Order: sequence, then C-alpha cells, then structure tokens
Amino acid sequence: MNTQVLLSAPVFDGKEQMNIQKALDKGFIATNGSFISKFEQKFSQRLKTHQITAVNSGTSAIHLSLIQLGIGLGDEVICQSFTFCASANPITYLGAIPIFVDSEKDTWNICPVILEDTIMSRISKGKKPKAIITVDLFGMPAKHHEILAISKKYNIPVIEDAAEAVGSLYHGKSCGIFGEYGVFSFNGNKIITTGGGGAVISSNVGAISKARYLSTQAREDTHYYEHYEIGYNYRMNNLSAGIGLAQFENLDRKVNKRRAVFDAYREMLKDFEGISLLEEPDDVFCNRWLTTILIDPKKTGFDNEDLRLAFQKQNIESRFLWKPLHMQPVFLDFPYYGGNISSSLFYQGICLPSSENLSIDDLTRIVSVISKQYKHVLK
Ligand SMILES: Cc1ncc(COP(=O)(O)O)c(C=O)c1O
Repeated sequence: MNTQVLLSAPVFDGKEQMNIQKALDKGFIATNGSFISKFEQKFSQRLKTHQITAVNSGTSAIHLSLIQLGIGLGDEVICQSFTFCASANPITYLGAIPIFVDSEKDTWNICPVILEDTIMSRISKGKKPKAIITVDLFGMPAKHHEILAISKKYNIPVIEDAAEAVGSLYHGKSCGIFGEYGVFSFNGNKIITTGGGGAVISSNVGAISKARYLSTQAREDTHYYEHYEIGYNYRMNNLSAGIGLAQFENLDRKVNKRRAVFDAYREMLKDFEGISLLEEPDDVFCNRWLTTILIDPKKTGFDNEDLRLAFQKQNIESRFLWKPLHMQPVFLDFPYYGGNISSSLFYQGICLPSSENLSIDDLTRIVSVISKQYKHVLK
C-alpha cells in the first residue's frame, strides 16, 4: 500500500513540545497559565486594531459573538450557505433562525447582491435580520467592502467567520477584522492548530473582555464562586495555547508553504482541460488553506466522485467542497435566497491534499491520479 497522503496534516516543527513540557512542569494545564495571555497578546499585536479572546473552538467563538449581539429566540440571522455547519449551528443554539444566502463566483463567498435582496425581502415581511454571518471559505476573503456597505446601510452587524482564513488579507488587512466580531478556528486541520481551539476578535475592548468572562462560566472576580449571568465552559486551555503560540510563530512560513502548494498545482494542472482553480481577486492574499479544483465533466470525462474514488484507491485523502447548508437535511426548513452557485460548486468541486509538508513526489503522485482519469490523451 502507498503511504497515505492527508488532506491537511498539522506540522509541529517549532517550540510546541517545549511549551507543552513547560506547561506540564508548572502544572498549568487548564484555563490558567501564561501561554493563554501570551497567545492572545501576540495575535492582538498582529491584528493591530483588534483584541482577542482565545476559546476552545471556532464554534464556541461564533456562539459567543451571537450572544454578545443579543441574538435570541425567533431572531433571524443571515448566514452564507456555502460553508461548514459550524457557521450556522450556534444560531440554532439560541433558538434563532438561520436565513441562508448563496455565493458569488469570484470568491465563492456570500453574494452581496443577493444579501441585500434578502435583507429587503425579510424587512418587507416585518422580520429585519439581527446579524449577518459571512465566511472566508477555504481562506479566500469575502467581498468585505461591499458587505460592510450593506451592513452599514441597514444597520445590521456582521460576524466574520474567518475560521479558515488565519493569515489571509483583504486590501492589506487581516481577515477576521471586518465585522463587529471575527472568529478564528485552530482545529487540528487548520493552518495553525492548538489541537482544538478558536478565538473571538473585536475592536471593542469591552466586548472582548465580556467574551472572556462568558467563556469562563461568567465567574465574578471574587474569592468565592459568584455568578450574575449564565456562562460557558469555552476558554482555551494552557496546553493548547502553548501549542498555538509555537504555531503562531511560524504562521507566515506555514501560509507561504500552503501558497506554494497551490502554485505547484496550478502549474502542474495548467494544461488539464476542464479543470480550474480559484484565482485571487485584486488586492487579496489568500492563505490557500486548501487548494480546491472545479471539474467540468463534459470536458474531462470524469467527475469529482470518480476522482475521489481514484484518490482513495491510491491512499490519498481528498474531500468534496462543503455541501451548502440550505441543502443539508437538518436545515431544509429554513429560508434560502439565491440560485445554484453554491450547489454547482458542491457538485463540481473537490479539495486536494494541501498540507504544508507535501513533497514534490506527493504532488506528482496526486496529479498523476488526476491525469489517469482522462479517457483521452492530454495535450
Ligand atoms: C468555516 C468554518 N466555520 C467554523 C468552524 C468551526 O471551527 P471549530 O472546528 O474550531 O469549532 C470551521 C472549522 O472547523 C469552519 O471551517
């Protein structure tokens, strides 16, 4: 059997082990310990205008952002349909209603035109949405300037789900900073990982310390346990933060390596008829968390499922693009606005192995699986 090629493997080539050992030696393995605040400080410095609260997942970061915006029972929250379920699940934790919106072709993220139509439609029904969740899918920044103009016009706050976009830039600014709240994930397959982890970011210092308070069971700063509010056990632990700090130190290198993987695929696939990659729009820097391709079966003679199976036979991990949430059985009863952009991306797309440590041999092996799918000889 060939050695396995993973879709997105974590790489620990910095101070991860040393930091874990330090945390163990000091006995700080839970939600206190200096790595948590150091991790937050380093991140805030990089973001320049924003503060950060480190939590135990991107999902809890979205949940806390929605709570802070006062979302509750029966409220409507607009959410990009083409995303992982975690973008929308926290809406339902609060008894609120997700309203799904289709993507546009340039970035595969929420379509500003359909977004505005959706807002007008909901307002005409007497249900003005209370928040908008945008996503920077696969690390590609959404059209933030257009989205923020709409957010301002209708006075509806944005939560930017930048779970996949750590290190990506939009017009020179870090993804995550464009809404009232931004969210990162440091799950095991992300560009930097803390094992499991996430962060809420905001330019509002008070909101960030409130998020920290809510993430630690809303415990008051007293010598006994005093609580005025319902809190959550969402804080990042010190072991995770130690790993995160070490990963963070290598963030730029990790992003550059993922971008080099994308560039290598682009070069190797350039003459493959019917296969296309998503290019960066002007003034956008994508972290290329995952390299994705679209397959036009009329030109290739094979589709994404044929390719997935062929990869599987060769012990190569691949994955379809996210199945849009409006098509998910669990969300079928919720409103959807748009056409078939996100569904056709799902039907045509596949994520290729994109780990930062892919070798030239791995890439050659992956691309040869693709080329062998063609029934005709490639030029
Ligand atoms: C777009 C998106 N949003 C949210 C999440 C949730 O992050 P986590 O897995 O850390 O809860 C993820 C990642 O898994 C994601 O890809």
